[in-house]
Amino acid sequence: MAMNLESKVAIVTGGGSGIGRAMSLGLAAAGAAVCVADVAIGGAEETAAMIAEKGGRGMAVQVDVTDRASIRRMVEAVVQRFCKVNVLLNNAGVANRDLILDLSEAEFDRVIGVNLKGPLLCTQEVVPHMRVAGGGSIINTISSSCELINPRLAVYGSSKGALKVLTKAMAVEFAQYNIRANGIVPHTTITGLNRTRITPEVEEREVARIPLGRLAKPEDYVGVAVLLASDESAWMTGSMVWVDGGFSSAAVMPPKTA
Ligand SMILES: NC(=O)c1ccc[n+]([C@@H]2O[C@H](COP(=O)([O-])OP(=O)(O)OC[C@H]3O[C@@H](n4cnc5c(N)ncnc54)[C@H](O)[C@@H]3O)[C@@H](O)[C@H]2O)c1
Repeated sequence: MAMNLESKVAIVTGGGSGIGRAMSLGLAAAGAAVCVADVAIGGAEETAAMIAEKGGRGMAVQVDVTDRASIRRMVEAVVQRFCKVNVLLNNAGVANRDLILDLSEAEFDRVIGVNLKGPLLCTQEVVPHMRVAGGGSIINTISSSCELINPRLAVYGSSKGALKVLTKAMAVEFAQYNIRANGIVPHTTITGLNRTRITPEVEEREVARIPLGRLAKPEDYVGVAVLLASDESAWMTGSMVWVDGGFSSAAVMPPKTA
């Protein structure tokens, strides 16, 4: 069963680096026309150039997902270039590692703004176009911290926990329009979000708790993103697909026998 996205037009927010770049390249490799949207336009342009180099269809657009006017301009640009939108991958995200008692209101607003309000605003602007197209697929990048508590990820995890609930609410509310909404739930992946934090010692400590024995690479999420964007997942909506090397299943690691 080949997953072919040739008839699909996708928007990937935060597509200028890390996981969003890998997923943009993956959707384009499967045939989709991809709008790589990012507040950092340089990164988005690089991703779009990588897509073009491989013979795919891509465009770069600057967007701030916390700003409705900017999102409207992004959607207009996509519809003007590719005529429709079938897939919205809400992936742009920011992190914060403050303990609760140290957390400022400004940081709370920034993290909730990008990670929760951003997907809401993008969805509100894209869904009318999906309805015109006869349906669509919304894919939200969540995080293992949506359920599993890391004390340094209180506001980040809260934003992702709320995004998980919002995703399920989207699934229920938009099913009548043939629009599906699902989440991809990643665990630690070395990207711009955490590159400076993950020293070799931190990596060793984290890997010790992952059954598959390594941190994720951005490319590890591509297969699921392509599946959720494609009609092969037509009966999936409201699902959270954990892609975490077994991390969330392991309360205790087994003794080493090999
Ligand atoms: N890296 C991890 O370990 C990890 C784990 C779980 C979940 N995630 C999630 O994966 C997603 C991608 O993160 P990443 O690890 O690739 O990090 P990243 O920093 O490489 O990518 C995030 C992208 O979002 C963009 N962005 C930030 N604010 C924006 C805004 N207001 N408008 C538009 N774009 C904006 C950034 O410019 C950047 O290109 C995020 O939602 C993140 O929470 C990451």
